Amino acid sequence: MLLLRSAETTPFRFVLEIGTGSGFVLGHLVGGRPGSEGVGTDIDVESAQEARDRTDGLRAEVVQCDCAAPFREEAFDLVVVNPPYLEGDSASDPAVYGGEGGVQIPRRMVEDGIRALKVGGSLFFVTSSHSDYGALVRGAASHGEVTGVSEERLFFERLMVYRVVKR
Ligand SMILES: C[S@@+](CC[C@H](N)C(=O)[O-])C[C@H]1O[C@@H](n2cnc3c(N)ncnc32)[C@H](O)[C@@H]1O
Repeated sequence: MLLLRSAETTPFRFVLEIGTGSGFVLGHLVGGRPGSEGVGTDIDVESAQEARDRTDGLRAEVVQCDCAAPFREEAFDLVVVNPPYLEGDSASDPAVYGGEGGVQIPRRMVEDGIRALKVGGSLFFVTSSHSDYGALVRGAASHGEVTGVSEERLFFERLMVYRVVKR
């Protein structure tokens, strides 16, 4: 998967995945890196439980919460986010709809992730050409150096992964 391929070669000890869903990415990151520890968050109760089950036995915890709300500033050296990105009301399906321009919720997820990221650490996020992704990239650029690291063309859209190195 695009996000995992982009992030897995980055050195880290403590990783946070915001919006972990099934816990697939979190499980692979922590499972593939001996000595590392991870946390996943998800706003959705059932997703959080699914991620908990999937990462059982790994050095990972899953918390049902908004973004990275329970965590202090600069707690993690790697943060990954694959947010919902279609325009629409996130309350109707938080896995798919990202609010206005498809970036309202992603912006909150990315900005809170950067808050919880150590200076010099990396945050990787996924976005889509279907959303107002320029606004998302510009917002992230006010906190660090942003580079596009990978992209994939699907039928009617491009999925892109950006990396933010926190200043
Ligand atoms: C596109 S899915 C990504 C799932 C998984 N990380 C993956 O890459 O397959 C987006 C996830 O973000 C979660 N989410 C949406 N809004 C959130 C918020 N404010 N805080 C935490 N998680 C949120 C959704 O419940 C959903 O599981």
